[in-house]
Amino acid sequence: MPRIYSLLIIVTIALCFFSGKNRFVQEPWKAPVWTDSLYNPYNIEPLTLPQAQEVYNLHCIRCHGGQGQGYPLEHTAQEVPDFKQDWVRQQSDGALYWKIREGRGIMPGYKLKLSDEQLWQLVEYIRDLSKPFDQQKNPFKNLEE
Ligand code: HEC
Repeated sequence: MPRIYSLLIIVTIALCFFSGKNRFVQEPWKAPVWTDSLYNPYNIEPLTLPQAQEVYNLHCIRCHGGQGQGYPLEHTAQEVPDFKQDWVRQQSDGALYWKIREGRGIMPGYKLKLSDEQLWQLVEYIRDLSKPFDQQKNPFKNLEE
């Protein structure tokens, strides 16, 4: 009889583990509402996009792709969003800034690795990537590869 109980406990733990993991992945990633009031304190300059692109190509492109299209990742059910989707475009600058700072799951947070100015430059860069290719302002824009 006790065997049945230990079996039940193991099954319950396994169920919690797997369902918990799936729930985490499928839940949309929402930034806290207060992040909508954050704004970019730095000036937008001609070099803002090219500088952000350097950082992006170093840290982000391996998952997000040259045009922000997103690659399928191995060893995780987490999906990389396409930056041209409405879901990304409709978010505030502050929300995107906060997400790049904090990260989630397989996406690392960058608050300790990048300067505040670099984080805001990346927000501008994602805004540019979310436009159709021929409307992007970055003179050195990446191809989708
Ligand atoms: C190891 C892969 C990986 C790297 C490296 C990475 N990301 Fe991500 N990123 C993801 C994944 C996966 C998600 C989706 C997370 C989720 O919704 O749970 C994501 C989501 C995002 C989002 C939120 C989009 C949305 O749907 O709201 C932004 C913005 C973002 N990444 C920017 C960046 C930037 C900028 C960098 C580089 C500084 C970067 N990421 C590096 C994997 C990565």
